[in-house]
Amino acid sequence: MPVPHRPRRPLPAALTALFSLLLLGACYGPEHPNSIFTRFTDWNRDVGFLFDLLLWFGMIVFVFVEVLLIVTIWKYRRRPGQGLPEQVHGNTKLEIIWTIIPTLVLVFIAVPTVKTIFRTQAKAKPDALQVEVIGRQWWWEFRYPQYTTTGANGKVDTLVTANELYMPIGRTVNFSLRTADVLHSFWISTLAGKRDLISNHTNYLWFTPDSVSENAFNGTCNEYCGASHANMKFRAYTVSAENFESWAQNQLLPSVGAAAAAQPGAPAGAPPAGAGAAPAAPPLNQASVLPTAPAADQAVAPATFVTFPAEQLGPHNIPRTPIPAAVKLQPGVVGDASRGAQAFAMGTGACIGCHTVRGVPTAMGRIGPDLTHVGGRHTIAAGLFPNDTAHLGAWIKNARAMKPGVLMPALAKGQFDPVTKATLQAGLTDQQAADIAAYLLTLK
Ligand code: CUA
Repeated sequence: MPVPHRPRRPLPAALTALFSLLLLGACYGPEHPNSIFTRFTDWNRDVGFLFDLLLWFGMIVFVFVEVLLIVTIWKYRRRPGQGLPEQVHGNTKLEIIWTIIPTLVLVFIAVPTVKTIFRTQAKAKPDALQVEVIGRQWWWEFRYPQYTTTGANGKVDTLVTANELYMPIGRTVNFSLRTADVLHSFWISTLAGKRDLISNHTNYLWFTPDSVSENAFNGTCNEYCGASHANMKFRAYTVSAENFESWAQNQLLPSVGAAAAAQPGAPAGAPPAGAGAAPAAPPLNQASVLPTAPAADQAVAPATFVTFPAEQLGPHNIPRTPIPAAVKLQPGVVGDASRGAQAFAMGTGACIGCHTVRGVPTAMGRIGPDLTHVGGRHTIAAGLFPNDTAHLGAWIKNARAMKPGVLMPALAKGQFDPVTKATLQAGLTDQQAADIAAYLLTLK
């Protein structure tokens, strides 16, 4: 009986192998700044070691088994004129051997795995920098409980920021991870993670960014958490110890109010002219026009490093999400920071109901991110848009049209709110939205 000759398919097999290799190769190297195959922290080195180990063991086993298989198929193939081969039922020696080999392989894998688990699950060093991470739909709150300041009224404020995480190089950072609502997961692919944020439970994660230069990294949420799960990102900056202290001290200062807007060196998007004259009067309160430098009796040098330099951001750190056409600010609208400060503090647009700006006594809301130093952030809306007048202005007009499901409602007249399904009959004008955006950008 002739053996049917099966058509061989070497091409698809070869293409599959090539594609797998390309995929793996595509993740390695510095030109892939979001790759997990980087070793900037002790944590990633430990996990990377396990990955390499498994990869090598897997490769050895794979090659061994495949070679044996191919040789056997070839050597014992059916030849013409051959009868039925000898029928055997088991081989004790062989079965013992192929039980022992995988057992040994598993031992070689298990010992370093368990050691790594114990090491990464241990308590962080007591001198670690503590950072509380609170996941929210859909943004990240970062609190630094070791950094506090006492305000004029005796209230102690903790350093709190949103969506932009600063870490000193060479110091262990201990994250305590909580959620304010549903499950989230904290991941900076190039540094460490993932670890889940679970309701009614605090998870911990610590690592030391020890073999990295001043750099910016992308962080993401990795547990599906609702409509804008994919839009729940953050930036992580590794900076020198001195720069970190400088940044932290600046963050602890109350906001610098509208008066700063008229100063030279105001950010792009702030009014170049028109606001040149000093604002007529403090808008509502003294605090909102505090000078830039801390009060003279505090012997604190003015912070030299207040934000990660924009020039050092990589192309992968800059979001490119387009603004929906219906939300864009009208061309030619230039925001006035002084007017914006006044509108903000007086509650036009209702920002203060949800946001805190320390130094503006009316702004004590706790629902949205703390905006005391929002102008020093490079992104808004949890890493979704760059932080400039065009994006911030559009965000103020209609946040829900820019990021599905957010709590912040549409605020501008004529905008359609996708959650309430209503078109606003009254609300902010483009000029007012641009003014508030210009003001917020002065809060470095
Ligand atoms: Cu938060 Cu997904």
